[in-house]
Amino acid sequence: MNKMVPTAVKTPLLGVNIDHVATLRQARGVNYPDPVEAALLCEQAGADGITLHLREDRRHIQDDDVYRMKPLLKTRMNLEMATTEEMLNIALEVKPEWICLVPEKREELTTEGGLDVASQVENIKRYIASLHQVGSKVSLFIDPDAKQIDAAIACKADAIELHTGQYAEATLAKESTAIEHELNRIKSATKYALSQQETLIVNAGHGLTRDNVSAIARIPGIYELNIGHALIADSVFMGLEKAVATMKQAMQG
Ligand code: PXP
Repeated sequence: MNKMVPTAVKTPLLGVNIDHVATLRQARGVNYPDPVEAALLCEQAGADGITLHLREDRRHIQDDDVYRMKPLLKTRMNLEMATTEEMLNIALEVKPEWICLVPEKREELTTEGGLDVASQVENIKRYIASLHQVGSKVSLFIDPDAKQIDAAIACKADAIELHTGQYAEATLAKESTAIEHELNRIKSATKYALSQQETLIVNAGHGLTRDNVSAIARIPGIYELNIGHALIADSVFMGLEKAVATMKQAMQG
């Protein structure tokens, strides 16, 4: 993810989060659908990167998925993980191009808030330094908040990923005042981050859909959007007709 002139990028890149394919597989405890196969298909279709979250409880992506996927990707792997020693050891072995540090709670359905970097600068700084030693770049998933941006810069993060979850919730609820408010927070945070460190990569993601993505994609300076749930959900409906027709054909031998 080399960036020459951050503000010159017009349409952000698309990182596809393929966790949701693994969720489907885990629901049955079988070996399909395979998130590695899905990742390669996403790349063929134009994804600029593949994001996957190895959670401590292994609810979707498994260690084996990460190890299998790494040598096959033609774009780059963005491995999301919590700041634990176990995850650090895996990352040091796999050496993904990017690591995105996220907060993790066992009881949550998905990543709920941004990482509180400000309260653990020394810890995260050490963590990032270890990852830099094996050549991985590090992004921090944070709320669009100046205090967290300052802390991310202090930790020597290569990128921040601004949490768009609250914006996405406001769009689902069709609350125009909240939409405007959340959009402005993300715009201001992007501007602030780039004013503090021009070379910082500013990504965004969480809860983005075909309906709400364009306002975020238009924010000057945003480099990449990471999108998973809505994209995989769309693929069900975009592919269902073909799947039914193919099954009918298969039944005929
Ligand atoms: N970015 C981060 C850091 C995430 O944790 C997630 C969800 O796993 C996403 C982006 C993608 O969110 P969604 O699946 O809602 O598109």
